[in-house]
Amino acid sequence: MRRKLLLGNWKMNKLASEAKEFALQSKALIQKAKENNVDMGVAPTYLSLQAVKENASKDMIVAAQNVHFKESGAFTGEVSIPMLKELGLDWVIIGHSERRTYDNETNEKCHLKMEALLANDMVPVYCVGETLAQFEAGQTKEVVKEQVEVGLRGLDLSKLSRLVVAYEPVWSIGTGKNASTEIAQDVCKFIRDVMRELLGDVADEIRILYGGSVKPENIRAYLSCPDVDGALVGGASLKIESYEGLLNNIL
Ligand code: 13P
Repeated sequence: MRRKLLLGNWKMNKLASEAKEFALQSKALIQKAKENNVDMGVAPTYLSLQAVKENASKDMIVAAQNVHFKESGAFTGEVSIPMLKELGLDWVIIGHSERRTYDNETNEKCHLKMEALLANDMVPVYCVGETLAQFEAGQTKEVVKEQVEVGLRGLDLSKLSRLVVAYEPVWSIGTGKNASTEIAQDVCKFIRDVMRELLGDVADEIRILYGGSVKPENIRAYLSCPDVDGALVGGASLKIESYEGLLNNIL
């Protein structure tokens, strides 16, 4: 049985002081999520990770938005896994489409990052999804299959049950143009089938999220799809009221 998961991706938003305030305000909500068997968390910027970790409920998932695959070295501007672990963090988003677009995050690079994360018993949230042009050209499954295969092939099978995959069609991110629930279910099921072929039965334990213009008003429909185990939410995770609405509307 896969537990439901709601993860807010704050992207480049919130000062550390604002992130701390949110963490404090979210305590009762995270408790409510726990009581209802929902895992819930946020991915703040690097500079706010410590403030959130220290002030949130211990049951809140606190994820970084990126990490380097090397432990240390001459990589100006980067942050390593041991640096995150020192703060008590276990979760990292990998391969978000904004990083793929603006920071040259390739499938191969994602693979190296996930390999390093699993070796350190951490949880990668691996984002996949097609662009508008690829969607319109009917290439969604081809693109997603390659992202899954290159990203996940050869990873340590014994640790893969902790992996989370997020299907985020690029054309639906921040646009208000939601993928229909039929598309979300179809692609998430496809991802599970590709993973089953590649990795075996562990595919049934891996949680798959939908992301792209998820709001309190539409989250329930996505989570009623059998292969959608949760949501990765940008804009609607920034205000405590709508973050709360996301949870309340799936209970
Ligand atoms: P929005 O929910 O703002 O569309 O963002 C989705 C996203 O990119 C989450 O990672």
